Amino acid sequence: MIVQTQLAVKNIASPEVPPVYLAPFGEAELAKVLPIDPNSAPYEHRQAVINLSRLGAASMADLISRTPVVSTFGIYSGRIKPDRFVGVVDLLPAENPGPANVEPTYTKTLQSLGVHIYSARKQGRGLGTAAVLGIMRYATQIEGTTFFDAWTSEQNLPAQRILDNLGYVETANREHAEHFGGRTSWLKQWIFAAPEAVESTNTPPLLHEPLRRGYEKFTDLAMKYEVQIV
Ligand SMILES: CC(C)(COP(=O)(O)OP(=O)(O)OC[C@H]1O[C@@H](n2cnc3c(N)ncnc32)[C@H](O)[C@@H]1OP(=O)(O)O)[C@@H](O)C(=O)NCCC(=O)NCCS
Repeated sequence: MIVQTQLAVKNIASPEVPPVYLAPFGEAELAKVLPIDPNSAPYEHRQAVINLSRLGAASMADLISRTPVVSTFGIYSGRIKPDRFVGVVDLLPAENPGPANVEPTYTKTLQSLGVHIYSARKQGRGLGTAAVLGIMRYATQIEGTTFFDAWTSEQNLPAQRILDNLGYVETANREHAEHFGGRTSWLKQWIFAAPEAVESTNTPPLLHEPLRRGYEKFTDLAMKYEVQIV
């Protein structure tokens, strides 16, 4: 579901940096980022890039708008215009393990995060950090999310830097994933918890203290940004 809210994320520490906007997007915006070189995408996002390139903007926009469990924002640099569209950031309700013998339920209290800046030229300029910070504010304040997780491949240092800077903690969970072209890699899980969720989400006690410190890191970084609904 493409969310209708529009957010402006301003870097207070660097007022000369144009705001990053999180806003709805569709076919016109997706068309602006095509074609995409799949080699600019790491494993965990390569399938999405290939889908977008193969299906085309119209079908992808339709598919995304009909996917009910995902909240997706477009990421825009400076202005909300199709030619300023640089990527997407989305939230997928994560699986809540629940009591034994009970089917997993999906809840917005726990959400999985994904982010993609499509063009390699636009990467490394702080857009990904601002987008993730903005969507975390949106999710905590509007959707009641208290716990996030995200998966990165081991080689994806920029994604890991974002998560670490925003207070995510690496867990011991690993998934073995096959790269296109036959290479294999490990995906690592990262988690973030608001203080009230640290002990209530089946996280190992060893991670409680790092999660509390992570939350402090998040609030310190968040103070350098202003996030407004526009
Ligand atoms: C990962 C991604 C979202 C990061 O967004 P971005 O706008 O490029 O990143 P930012 O400019 O906000 O930088 C984030 C951090 O990564 C670091 N970084 C950027 N490029 C890097 C590189 N090539 N190697 C190591 N670190 C790098 C930055 O220095 C920054 O860390 P710091 O603040 O501690 O110095 C973006 O590069 C992307 O879309 N990549 C392809 C898809 C993907 O990997 N998605 C995430 C999967 S979970």
